[in-house]
Amino acid sequence: MTDTLSPVKPGKLIINGEAVDAASGRTYSTWNPATESPICEVAEAGAEDVDRAVRAARAAFESGPWPKMKPAERQRILFRLGDLILAHAEELGRLETLDNGKPIFESKMIDAPMVANCFHYFAGWATKLAGDTLPVNPAFFTYTLREPIGVVGAIIPWNFPMIMVGWKAAPALAAGNTVVLKPAELTPLTALRIAELALEAGLPPGVFNVVSGKGSVAGEAMVKHPGVDKISFTGSTEVGRHIMKTAADTMKRLTLELGGKSPNIVFADADLDAALKGATAGIFYGKGEVCAAGSRLLVESSIYDDFVARLSERSAKMAPSDPLDPKSRLGALVSEGQMQKVLGWVETGVKEGARVAAGGKRQPVNGKGWFVQATVLDGVDNQMRVAQEEIFGPVLAVIRFDGVDDAIAKANDVPYGLASGVWTRDVKKALNVSRRLQAGTVWVNAYNFYDAGMPFGGVKQSGFGKDLGPDSLNEYTHTKSVWMNLE
Ligand code: NAI
Ligand code: MG
Repeated sequence: MTDTLSPVKPGKLIINGEAVDAASGRTYSTWNPATESPICEVAEAGAEDVDRAVRAARAAFESGPWPKMKPAERQRILFRLGDLILAHAEELGRLETLDNGKPIFESKMIDAPMVANCFHYFAGWATKLAGDTLPVNPAFFTYTLREPIGVVGAIIPWNFPMIMVGWKAAPALAAGNTVVLKPAELTPLTALRIAELALEAGLPPGVFNVVSGKGSVAGEAMVKHPGVDKISFTGSTEVGRHIMKTAADTMKRLTLELGGKSPNIVFADADLDAALKGATAGIFYGKGEVCAAGSRLLVESSIYDDFVARLSERSAKMAPSDPLDPKSRLGALVSEGQMQKVLGWVETGVKEGARVAAGGKRQPVNGKGWFVQATVLDGVDNQMRVAQEEIFGPVLAVIRFDGVDDAIAKANDVPYGLASGVWTRDVKKALNVSRRLQAGTVWVNAYNFYDAGMPFGGVKQSGFGKDLGPDSLNEYTHTKSVWMNLE
């Protein structure tokens, strides 16, 4: 492993434009999942630090320059941040890979450019958020203003620690809000670094604050804080539900992007080579620690046996490897606990009657690391727990179906509705199935495509509200109606 190239400096909270320690002086270690060794110490925010960050964000919103600034100036600053992130892709990619265990190919070549893409895209929106003039009554001049909400609390998960900064902070800031962001305790490093770059780009103090710390302490404090107007959360459905209840006391607005058990449906008439690649990339990208992972592969009966044989062969070849190696495509799971949980799910699947057709075991790299093999569970029934619950690891549940109606019935028969994939050469079938799937996203003959300009977010227990695209700006603005009496 080459993670000793240069030491990572200890992480500090970024509050009101300054890097500071936690009020308690507490720190914790963040770990490298590929080497099972600590990377550095990071400040651990408590309720007092969250309060300090919220006050800074509040002051920056009420009396600072950010919301009042000419939109063109906000645009320039956010665009500059996008440029800085691109210029630091190498550094950010390395930090992300050390902290999360994902392949450097993903963190440097895909994640870092995606964060930059978010700031560039939403920078453009700063100058394009407009109200309407609505001629409802000749006695009045009636119009609407599109205003920022205020202080946005962003709480993000460990699977895409830097991408989530872009998804949440970029639209919130473009609309003129100020932000307090809490990264996941397991992966704080890139968010803290991006907050430093934000200051370098010219964001005024207090506009973008980052407080690393525990969900049950710092996260909870943010959700309860009366100075926070909105919570934008990505993470587990369980915590999302808890946040929704807690936020009720202060009537906070919410965006909740939660779990998934997304179906990836392969019809017999598909380009099967492409579908095979899409099936494996759909689950093994990001080690399967992806909310939108195509974790249920639905395969049509007439091609089932052949397809599963090819799939298993392909998966067995995807050995985990050193995530810092640019050729690595399967890294380490984020924590020992997550690895144990995922291995436990494989056992559960076997007990339920599924067959392990590939992988299924831990496979250390250079004798270390929380790596799990690319795993295929064959012969899964859609009612099994491994088909109904989020595993959040490189484990694919393969389910058989007969015809379009059966595919739709099985695809929709889960509590979640985040994403989905459809593989077919039949255009009518693709369009009809896309309509009938209960999901926030449908990929046709593709999987796992994202862009800052394309809305993303689920239905059912996958949450509500949208990240990305024009829709996401609705999550960070409210409409004020103005009636001006002309008589
Ligand atoms: P989590 O939902 O606990 O963590 C997400 C974020 O919420 C983190 O920043 C965490 O600190 C924060 N948080 C936790 N409790 C909180 C509270 N009471 N108030 C406010 N914020 C709080 O997810 P966790 O524990 O890291 O992973 C557990 C499982 O959740 C995973 O095994 C996976 O199945 C699922 N998960 C799903 C994600 C998705 O995007 N669908 C992302 C992360 C985890
Ligand atoms: Mg870590």
